[in-house]
Amino acid sequence: MRIALLGFGSVGRGIARAILAKDLSITVTGLADSRSGLIDPDGIDLAAALARKGNGDPCGLPDTSPADVVAKADYDVLVEVTPTNVETAEPALGHIREALRRHKHVVTSNKGPIAIAYPELRALAEANGVFLKYEATVCGAIPLIHALQEGLAGNTISRLYGVFNGTCNYILTRMAAEGLTYEQALAEARELGYAEADPTYDVEGIDAAIKLVILANTILGMQTTLADVERTGITLLTPDALQLAEDQDCTIRLIGEIVPEAGALRVSPRLIPEVHPLVVEGTLNAVSVETDLAGELTFIGKGAGSTETASAVIGDLLYIQSRHVQGS
Ligand code: HSE
Repeated sequence: MRIALLGFGSVGRGIARAILAKDLSITVTGLADSRSGLIDPDGIDLAAALARKGNGDPCGLPDTSPADVVAKADYDVLVEVTPTNVETAEPALGHIREALRRHKHVVTSNKGPIAIAYPELRALAEANGVFLKYEATVCGAIPLIHALQEGLAGNTISRLYGVFNGTCNYILTRMAAEGLTYEQALAEARELGYAEADPTYDVEGIDAAIKLVILANTILGMQTTLADVERTGITLLTPDALQLAEDQDCTIRLIGEIVPEAGALRVSPRLIPEVHPLVVEGTLNAVSVETDLAGELTFIGKGAGSTETASAVIGDLLYIQSRHVQGS
């Protein structure tokens, strides 16, 4: 399978490393970061591109843009893993549209296009006979979309709630366990590649809110936008607030919740007993789903990180590869 990889930050490099380490039968024929691009129908040398990036250099040539890669490279799947823009979803949205029009499958970790334009993109994918997969947009390594769309198909979901942002969870864990200030913990999360390119998306609850919108619109049959989510972030939490929670055998977590019947979507810091299943540490996410047939299920796994997010992207790619090969 040939892919074009747009985005060579934490997630893009995680994908490249996984392709190399696991010797997957995936050839990268197009590659772009924000400053450069490469097109090579025989396959790009990923180890060399990773080395250039490691030295602080662009991954490719300055005269090749992401748009060139999307329009001109020869590939089966566009892998779009550039940073999220929650206002317009651009430039990713345009690139995804162009790839779908070219009859290319799309796998993305980019929340903006899925949250803002899923019905249009899905219709475009169907019209062109290709897949649009987005497992990596929600909860990193947890195969939540797959579980909800396939494993729990036929269930009615009455409530879905939990920890959707790894960066906030990491910050809250580090503040409570090590007494770090909010600023110190955020700086660590950024350095480790967990935070969004614009970390206000994480700490103001926007990232968690947009994940709720994706689940609401693509799984729960709702039609919501970011403006429909009642939202409070963690920016005003102090070490004292966490200490007060601890004195009551509780802790604080940023919880996102959807109650479909009430049309309610909310994100806010909440006081939770320390023994509660949603109290997970570090970059873990934890999501409880209440259903009619299956009862209540809780999914726990790494919600952020280069390798963990790459796991979700690779899963989508191999899903397409298995269908593609069978169907061709
Ligand atoms: N910044 C996001 C998080 C990455 O911390 O959860 C995964 O969406």
